[in-house]
Amino acid sequence: MPTLTWSDALSLQQPQMDTTHQEFVDLLAAAEAALDAEPAVLLQRFQALLEHTVEHFAQEDRWMAATGFSAENCHTFQHAAVLQVMRNVVALAQVEGDFGPLKQAVAELAQWFPGHAQMMDAGLAFHMQQVGFDPVTGQCREAVAEGSLTGCGSTSCND
Ligand SMILES: [Fe+2]
Ligand SMILES: [Fe+2]
Repeated sequence: MPTLTWSDALSLQQPQMDTTHQEFVDLLAAAEAALDAEPAVLLQRFQALLEHTVEHFAQEDRWMAATGFSAENCHTFQHAAVLQVMRNVVALAQVEGDFGPLKQAVAELAQWFPGHAQMMDAGLAFHMQQVGFDPVTGQCREAVAEGSLTGCGSTSCND
């Protein structure tokens, strides 16, 4: 049984986001299932997760930009920090053959994701709903002030 499995508790009632998040959970579970497999298999599965996460975060960053968030907001910063860690552990595994940090990252991502989804992603999903943003057309029903939001819109955010 993977550490993190998809459940309704993770659903944000935003179909595109929920689909992407289910894929994330599945790819992470696949990496976790390979923790004791051949290093090449583990590395390949983690890289598949990384590739997916690049687009997952880019999609949310695009939605934030389209709905009035500044390019410098705490949600986007957290995406960048997580990607940096993921790239670093891949490099350590590839270049130095050190899989310890990568294995630790698999465990930490499973701990990190629910909080991120339920706070930052939920804040974004709520905001998208408030301004009537359609991810398919990229249009908002309500006018949004470009680049005006620097927080993430979650209840825990101080900005
Ligand atoms: Fe997300
Ligand atoms: Fe996010």
